[in-house]
Amino acid sequence: MVKNMKEKLLKTFAEVFGDTEGVRLYFAPGRVNLIGEHTDYNGGHVFPCALTIGTYGAVRKREDNKLRFYSMNFSGLGVIETSLEDLTPCKEAGWTNYPKGVIWAFAEKGMKLPCGMDVLLNGNIPNGSGLSSSASVEVLTGFVLKDLFGFSVSNKELALIGQFSENQFNGVNCGIMDQFAIAMGKEGHAIFLDTADLSYEYAPVKLAGAKIVIACSNKKRGLGDSKYNERRSECEEALRELQAVVDVKALGDLDEAAFEANCGAIADEVRVRRARHAVYENRRTIKAVEALKQNDIALFGRLMNESHVSLRDDYEVTGIELDTLVEEAWKVDGVIGSRMTGAGFGGCTVSLVKDEAIDAFIGQVGKAYQEKIGYAADFYVVEIGGGPARLMGSEEKES
Ligand code: GLA
Repeated sequence: MVKNMKEKLLKTFAEVFGDTEGVRLYFAPGRVNLIGEHTDYNGGHVFPCALTIGTYGAVRKREDNKLRFYSMNFSGLGVIETSLEDLTPCKEAGWTNYPKGVIWAFAEKGMKLPCGMDVLLNGNIPNGSGLSSSASVEVLTGFVLKDLFGFSVSNKELALIGQFSENQFNGVNCGIMDQFAIAMGKEGHAIFLDTADLSYEYAPVKLAGAKIVIACSNKKRGLGDSKYNERRSECEEALRELQAVVDVKALGDLDEAAFEANCGAIADEVRVRRARHAVYENRRTIKAVEALKQNDIALFGRLMNESHVSLRDDYEVTGIELDTLVEEAWKVDGVIGSRMTGAGFGGCTVSLVKDEAIDAFIGQVGKAYQEKIGYAADFYVVEIGGGPARLMGSEEKES
């Protein structure tokens, strides 16, 4: 599998860029969040893990300042070219705004590239699925720059630089979860991250007799980003209102009782629900990780279900596609828990499903989804993988 991928990357690199002299191969994963949704910009906890699917890259230095990008996923676009002198976001640059943004962010942090690069990417994360293909490209790019040019940056810093580039260069006001999960991924483990101070802990995910199944809604996302930013501002406003009566830095500082005692300070009913989700979801995440440590997978599953209800009713980021996938999943025997994952408004769900129920799960949920929504969902049984890595490349000393 990996061997085939390497051959495919090298063959295409030679076709696009002439030969494979001096090429290095890299990988960065995608991610799925098990629980803790829309908490990462509210100073709360998240519990994501890296996947074994992700983005592969074949890269080499150039002798001039050109940056030449090619994606096997968008081969129709051909080579997209820019240079180190022109690191500004633009519509025509399409997907290359992600790697460009990271190169720009490195320069902002004092790490200017001494020369350009030829970059070929090939991702096997399903398109637009909400499994963080953009964060995967950002972390991959950061890892490549560190490895190819010898910059001294930790993987945690790569996550922060990825988020910085997404916020400042690509204009998406995302939190730290996706880049952190990808840069810090560890095989077989999910990451219990406190976004208030970036302290984290790896928790082994041992699902004896069960697997993580992702269902992709295939809904085209449109309004997603603006709604995402809208939810952020609603939470920020609710926090300001709460701060008039209680001394907190973030919604994540409140427990359920403190929230209920003070939520009267929030003037608008919609904002009360938004803030309630942020507070309760954070607490659920802490409880879920504790349940996993106690091997109480059934409780972990129930908390996943509660998370979905809260995202549906209080945070309102699900929609008929994700609700159908989850509500049909709940009907299947052998489903331990199921919820939407990621930003919402489309994208995918994550379910814990007993091994013997996986076929029935895919059959039943797939059929009901097709009937109700009118097009098919896709299903992926996934494994938890590690962080970014170099797969092949010369060991020569950097000049
Ligand atoms: C997107 C963002 C993350 C996080 C999730 C919701 O994936 O990139 O930072 O806010 O949505 O939990």
